[in-house]
Amino acid sequence: MPSEVRKVIIDDVRPGMILANDLVSSRGIVMLSEGTVLAEHTIERIKCWGFSHLDIVDDTNEVSCRCTAKLDFIDKYTSLVDKVKEAFQGARYCKRIPLDQLEYLADQVTGSLVSARGVINSLHILRLVDDYTFQHSVNVATLSGLFGRWLGISEPELKKLVFAGLLHDIGKTQIPLAILNKPGRLTDSEMDIMKGHALQGFEILKKSGLDSNIILEGVFAHHERLDGSGYPRALKGSHISQAAKIIAIADIYDAMTSDRVYRRSVTPFAVIETLCNEMFNKLDPTMCTVILNYLQDFFIGNIVLLNDGRQAEVIYVDKTRESRPVVKTTEGDYLDLEQNREVTIVEIIN
Ligand SMILES: [Fe+2]
Repeated sequence: MPSEVRKVIIDDVRPGMILANDLVSSRGIVMLSEGTVLAEHTIERIKCWGFSHLDIVDDTNEVSCRCTAKLDFIDKYTSLVDKVKEAFQGARYCKRIPLDQLEYLADQVTGSLVSARGVINSLHILRLVDDYTFQHSVNVATLSGLFGRWLGISEPELKKLVFAGLLHDIGKTQIPLAILNKPGRLTDSEMDIMKGHALQGFEILKKSGLDSNIILEGVFAHHERLDGSGYPRALKGSHISQAAKIIAIADIYDAMTSDRVYRRSVTPFAVIETLCNEMFNKLDPTMCTVILNYLQDFFIGNIVLLNDGRQAEVIYVDKTRESRPVVKTTEGDYLDLEQNREVTIVEIIN
């Protein structure tokens, strides 16, 4: 929607407002040009020049459009999480997977969430809702779809990938609740039971009549790792399907950026560092490179909290070191976090 112009009394002009027209003196000299973002000291200077009003870009409509889109996203997201919860609980108590219902929900994820503007940032602000398992399933489905699109996967295959992402932990509906919801770390034997969810998911989906190999393998192999250190089959490299490799990256990204009872979430910048460290032996390096390249665009403009208590805006992300961006603090200092290794981002506070 095009921005409009409004006249603002000089005393009401605030930093961040944008000049809609050139600011011209009575002698015809351009003092400031159209599009200037006004800073505190510039406003003071304009007052000294004796201007009583300024033409300011009115972005109220644009802001209200962005708000409506965000509210729309939250609405669709929370309703999807509720419906996934219903379907998963049906699978736990009735031992039946409502495949048609879940496929419909996966299509909703592809249509509404994967294509939404700023989807990664939207998922970050929706971390406070309960029901981790169901939220995690919707998030992994959304991220798998987004990553799949970045990797150039065709739309019919993308739909299956999103469906597999939604179902990836369906086997957890067969794990006793005492283990699934245990507050704290699992013992070794409990962990073994938990790890069974990959095979159980595969089996229950097959029994329910699902015959897509892309989806079945995506679910069965989402904990396999390139070097054979994963489970349940310790598959290596090319024996792991493309869908399973994408879901694995989405799974790691979402799990690490979520708060759990036994550990705090980390920032996406820390996840990027993990992906960079694991991309050559555990995760697919080609996929990680493409995904990391796209991810950086989502973080420019984010307001972050630094470990020394300062707030800053991310203004530049270098492709070769995405976890250490350049930020601008609220005091106006530019900090290259690659050069200032003692300073780290501890939280995104948009
Ligand atoms: Fe899993």
